[in-house]
Amino acid sequence: MAAQHERSKSFPWYDSPWLSAYLAAREFIQVRCPQKEQEFVRAFDVFRTPPDFEVLHLPGLFDDNVLAELSSIVRDLDHRNASTDELVNFGRFVKWDLPYVTTLQEDLAERVSELVGEAVEPSYNFLSLYKELGVCHVHMDAPFSKWTIDYCIEQSAVWPIYFSRIVPWPEDWVDPGPDWENIIKSEPANRFRSFEMQEGEALLFSGSSQWHYREPIERRQEQNYCHLLFLHYIPAGTADLKVPANWAEIFDIPALAELAHPTGDRVMRFDK
Ligand SMILES: [Fe+2]
Repeated sequence: MAAQHERSKSFPWYDSPWLSAYLAAREFIQVRCPQKEQEFVRAFDVFRTPPDFEVLHLPGLFDDNVLAELSSIVRDLDHRNASTDELVNFGRFVKWDLPYVTTLQEDLAERVSELVGEAVEPSYNFLSLYKELGVCHVHMDAPFSKWTIDYCIEQSAVWPIYFSRIVPWPEDWVDPGPDWENIIKSEPANRFRSFEMQEGEALLFSGSSQWHYREPIERRQEQNYCHLLFLHYIPAGTADLKVPANWAEIFDIPALAELAHPTGDRVMRFDK
């Protein structure tokens, strides 16, 4: 098993442990039961995004009452009860899966299905309350975020987000060293574009097949913030498949359960 771990890849960006787990499992299958490799790889085609998908701008996603309710939830949120796990890396407080938001997310699933051209079901959601040190380093999310609605509740100023075109998963990534972020941003083939949202507007993108980032929030006012809502969707019926801990059973490869994840506990977030 040690040899498997040595060959496993890890990546420097946020939310990459899923891709590491996928590649580690694929390598394991190549060695231990190569006759199952194609079945394993093809099973994940459902999480790959068609290359012609374009980011959608959705003004007026919710009516004014919903926007007012979300503003009031943010205002009344006791930040001591919000997660500070991402305060250092993102400059944001997060609040996962609030019941009101989860209902909104469920109600929107049919519309998202129409917009993206496939039946979807809700994955996780969270309020993302960026403050003075807000930043979002370039990354690509796990398939738990195949489809993402990024909704702006309120902001001190417009804060652009940059998306690449749809790109293949970076399975052949070779670590270029500490300048990896700039290398991704400046790669012409990624074709990054800037998008902006006003309060009450949303963007729909494919978080697991598009690089995306925000530069540090500009501190032009006394208080600088951007309060966003993220609603994530997955293809309908893929809730079990997306979780690495289920793969041994799904693919009937009990030995796969022995495969420890190279990045340890970080992968557990996927079990949410
Ligand atoms: Fe993301």
